[in-house]
Amino acid sequence: MCGIVGGVAERSITNILIEGLKRLEYRGYDSAGLALVSQDAILRERRVGKVANLEQAVNESLVTGSLGIAHTRWATHGKPTENNAHPHVSGHVAVVHNGIIENYQELKDDLEALGYVFTSQTDTEVVAHLVHDALKSTSSLLEAVQSVVPQLKGAYALGIIHTDYPDELITVREGSPLVIGVGIGENFISSDQLALLPITNRFIYLEEGDIARLTRDKIEVFVNGQLVNRPVKELDATVSNASKGEFKHYMLKEIYEQPEALQQTISQALDGNALRADFLKQAEADFANIQQVQILACGTSYHAGMIAKYWFEQLIDVPCQVEIASEFRYRTPVIVNNTLYLCISQSGETADTLAALRDTQKRAVSKNINIVTMAICNVATSSMIRETNHSLLTLAGPEIGVASTKAFTTQLAALMLLILKIGQIKQTISEHQIQSIAAELWHLPKVILDTLQNNAAILRLSELFVEKQHCLFLGRGTHFPIALEGALKLKEISYIHAEGYAAGELKHGPLALVDNDMPVVILAPQDDMLDKLKSNMEEVQARGGELFVFADEHSGIHNKDRQHVVSVPSISATLAPIVYSVPVQLLSYHVAVLRGTDVDQPRNLAKSVTVE
Ligand code: F6R
Repeated sequence: MCGIVGGVAERSITNILIEGLKRLEYRGYDSAGLALVSQDAILRERRVGKVANLEQAVNESLVTGSLGIAHTRWATHGKPTENNAHPHVSGHVAVVHNGIIENYQELKDDLEALGYVFTSQTDTEVVAHLVHDALKSTSSLLEAVQSVVPQLKGAYALGIIHTDYPDELITVREGSPLVIGVGIGENFISSDQLALLPITNRFIYLEEGDIARLTRDKIEVFVNGQLVNRPVKELDATVSNASKGEFKHYMLKEIYEQPEALQQTISQALDGNALRADFLKQAEADFANIQQVQILACGTSYHAGMIAKYWFEQLIDVPCQVEIASEFRYRTPVIVNNTLYLCISQSGETADTLAALRDTQKRAVSKNINIVTMAICNVATSSMIRETNHSLLTLAGPEIGVASTKAFTTQLAALMLLILKIGQIKQTISEHQIQSIAAELWHLPKVILDTLQNNAAILRLSELFVEKQHCLFLGRGTHFPIALEGALKLKEISYIHAEGYAAGELKHGPLALVDNDMPVVILAPQDDMLDKLKSNMEEVQARGGELFVFADEHSGIHNKDRQHVVSVPSISATLAPIVYSVPVQLLSYHVAVLRGTDVDQPRNLAKSVTVE
């Protein structure tokens, strides 16, 4: 998705803007640009493709300045061309924008009637012209922006500069993330604090509807024209968290960070083999009352929710529904009293999940229905965390690779901890069972570490996938969602068409696809369904399919002709899906590397999907 970086300083900020954009590259984009105020002019460079192209152009043209805005664009309105890249300029105004201005066509018609000429197909350009026009009847850049904002419909974050205001950067947050990085004698904005971590660890998180004016030494935040106080928060995230270190790709680094990330996530909730007394304490009264759970999420986070459904119902007898947020939000679902609406999201900014949450909250209030909302999320400062009654953080650290890995496994660990807590409060799980799952959770990082030892074996298997066009993933029970997740990982980074199926569904259709050329990946933990799964494997082999099996070391499944087995360390059936996530991640990673795709930034995808 699009990224914004901007700043106002004493020194030249050209390199800070470029470095900031590079740190946002992981989000996915197709063009990049920047604009700087220099003397009386806006100096602008824009390029299609990577930030490196923009950097080269900037180095050649030597543009420099101490007030500027920069942007990576992920095309929504208009193709990825130089003309459509941000910043957009109108006279002496330059604007960068994340999100969508939904009523842009209407505004554009009005502006064209006033004589404004549009040079792009974007929705953003209207903002530049509107500010330009508003300056004719207002007395400052801030006032002009304040008069424009009520005309805009949609979700947006904006950065705006003007040559007549060489020490002023105006920013707006309305439905799209925006933080202010607080420096000494200089201040910055970004859509993601990660971009600013090399220059500051002090941030102001703007609220929806905030308009801020930044100068070198002052930050003023306004709501409806009134000055408001927003606290400065200090972050302890280190810059090194966001670098690849010795790894070739962020994705591989993040796969290897899973033991540590899980350890962190588990430690916040457990004291020995018991739940900590203070873990989710403030939610206890709400948990006691809930009768059912409705999970809302997208993509990989949705798969985590699917596994949680099995756990909620099997372990603590609480009915659980899980639904893709982009479907839920548009189908007028019945809002049921005493339901826990649980959003799962790595970023906490996913537009569909946020909209599903907000709509549900609104409808519950209007119908006077009592619900509880909660987020499981990896970003402490995200909208989802701020807008829910309760939250539980996954402590995975920043996830840069577009394909979610450590965020997924820590979501599963967090979900398990939440389920233990709810079961304890509702007394639907015994203390003995809590202790035994807790003991296993402590052991989990070590099991993941052992599973990672299979990397070389999985690399060898991946060579057999390079030429394939299609692939099936099969699992049963909690490993059906892992099959879906394996297929999603493989398609998103290697571009091989893959499908995940519940193995029991095979003979109801997908078996017709199986032939000599169809690799079938099987997830075979030691659980009650193992014998049934073995029968499904026979069905595939009888049709000439080639099997790639991730199997429990005691499963009795061995290598044979057209059956390749990677043995996975033993773990209880309950926690097995967390462990079996790892081999499917590694398989997708190696296949993608061998096929030469852009592993960390796969084509057409974005890390944080802040538009619907
Ligand atoms: C796939 C992946 C996506 C995200 C989805 C939701 O590897 O990462 O499917 O899971 O876009 O994102 P979050 O979790 O940020 O809400």
